[in-house]
Amino acid sequence: MVDKKFWELFAAKYWEKKSVCFKGIKSSILKIDSDCIFKLLVRYSDHCRKTKTLVGMKFYIEGHLQYLEDVLELLPKAKDKSLMGYHLRMDEMFSDYCLVCDELIQVLDKEWKLLGEFVMGLYREVGLPSKFAEMGLYLGNYRRTPFGVHSDGCGVISIPVEGVKEFLVWNSKFVEKNPKLKRTHRYKAYKKDAQRWVAKPGDLVYWPASYWHIAESMGSFSATWSIGFWLDEPFSEIVSKAFKPLLVKKISDCRTLPMGDFIRQDGLIQKLPEALELFYSQLAGISHKEIHDVFVRYWLEIISKNSFRNPPPNLGAKKQAGVEERIFWAKLSNGNLCVAAKGVLQEVPNHSKWVKLIQSINEGKLVNLQFFKRSELKIFQKIYPTNKK
Ligand SMILES: [Fe+2]
Repeated sequence: MVDKKFWELFAAKYWEKKSVCFKGIKSSILKIDSDCIFKLLVRYSDHCRKTKTLVGMKFYIEGHLQYLEDVLELLPKAKDKSLMGYHLRMDEMFSDYCLVCDELIQVLDKEWKLLGEFVMGLYREVGLPSKFAEMGLYLGNYRRTPFGVHSDGCGVISIPVEGVKEFLVWNSKFVEKNPKLKRTHRYKAYKKDAQRWVAKPGDLVYWPASYWHIAESMGSFSATWSIGFWLDEPFSEIVSKAFKPLLVKKISDCRTLPMGDFIRQDGLIQKLPEALELFYSQLAGISHKEIHDVFVRYWLEIISKNSFRNPPPNLGAKKQAGVEERIFWAKLSNGNLCVAAKGVLQEVPNHSKWVKLIQSINEGKLVNLQFFKRSELKIFQKIYPTNKK
């Protein structure tokens, strides 16, 4: 059972320590099954065909990446009816194909909540990933991962939904001693040193960010989705990104820096140029409250998107009747409330009618909008699209 105990054990024994395969897990995350993945893939493929783009999609034939005009027709369609139906269409044409999709998250609706609850169980034990989490999908009858033995820079939880998936994983210590393994397709000599996982629907495989890995098959069909946890961003980088909007607001813009005449003949700089003195006073004028609010906004943003890089767009009550969407909120130093959903933030007045609205939504109650003006709701639409009748 994937519950608090499971994640405690996972955090203590495996997270960023070693690879593992859990057999026959019991978790609501298994609701993201073959049918669900097929539905999401068709939805995203329809979007690709409509926009004539392939953002986040890759299609390989015998290990070679294919290009846009050839691929759109090869993506799943509703008339394939299932992942297996899609595979049969592809298998007639290709004895070795691989479809990769990194943007399925864009078309999630009720699965977003499932995914959120699943990763939050993990985050409660190990913390949120410093960079972000990402959802991926691999599908096909390919003999080997098209890009060979690789390391993604992220820890991966992989969940098969169709067929049997075999993974070979090596830890970074071994790969450092045997660098020939890196990005190779010829790894036969190192197979005996790998951990080998054979996973099927209901199982869960994990490997830490530093591990090298490859998936292989005997040419049978499998489909696996995964969550990658990127941990390679230093917090100094994150803090500097979070502070950027405040700095842009505070520091006056100038395109050249007047030199002044404070550089002595012998090279000694006696005084800073006026502009730099001004920046200094502008920075020194940033208050504790402003700094605090930067962190409030940062935290609201990442927690409301479950730390995913690219959460699905906010559809709120408009298109997702009956789907509870949790709204996160916090008080800002200026007295307003900052509300957040799926990484989108808005400021609203700290008024009891707003508090009641947010609380009603979070309790899954019917929302009464009669006390709101249309102009007020406009602000809220970005967080939680609602219909005022
Ligand atoms: Fe990978």
